[in-house]
Amino acid sequence: MNSEFVVSSSGRDSWPESELPEVVVVGRSNVGKSSFINAFTGKKRLAYVGNTPGKTRLLNFFAIDGDWMLVDVPGYGYAKMSKSQLMQLGQMMDDYFQNRENIKAVVQLVDSRHDPTADDIDMIGFFKEMHIPVVIVATKIDKVPKTKRPAHLKAIAKKIQIPVKNILPVSSVELTGLREVEQKIRELLEL
Ligand code: GTP
Ligand code: MG
Repeated sequence: MNSEFVVSSSGRDSWPESELPEVVVVGRSNVGKSSFINAFTGKKRLAYVGNTPGKTRLLNFFAIDGDWMLVDVPGYGYAKMSKSQLMQLGQMMDDYFQNRENIKAVVQLVDSRHDPTADDIDMIGFFKEMHIPVVIVATKIDKVPKTKRPAHLKAIAKKIQIPVKNILPVSSVELTGLREVEQKIRELLEL
């Protein structure tokens, strides 16, 4: 897979001028969005990964195989931000999701160890309203013992109210489940 960093954007003035379809990676802060992008593209340092939440503050665009873009965005649910920082971030995200016509799908990351949060459910509902197709990915599956994985995925599926086969478990550490996500994205983008 060929992948390259395109631009970091703080808002519409710096959205890339491009016709490529965009697939946005969203999820709670620290759920593993940036790690997922690195594992998915096979590049260790394409997206910035941090040990503390709130690392990604901008919209980061990555071109994949020259025919679509992955977009890394800040996570939600991170409390340790000032009100004005939160507002600024919220406005940047709202404007992007409401007005960027390139957005063709969302990869919604949830933590495979826990039930989806109220914020996760709200986000999924929001994309449904916007008629944006959502791929649900359960991250950090390596942290769930093998025998417990089916039960965890089932619980997540129940909470989101989708069939369990539509939850794609991945590990960005063990590099598992990534090509399944790619296949799903390609199906959605008709590539
Ligand atoms: P923000 O940018 O702050 O919203 O976080 P993020 O969602 O981009 O998370 P990030 O990729 O920075 O990862 C957060 C932490 O989780 C890091 O310490 C990663 O090493 C760890 N992590 C991410 N994916 C996995 C995984 O699949 N398995 C394990 N074991 N750890 C992971
Ligand atoms: Mg990040």
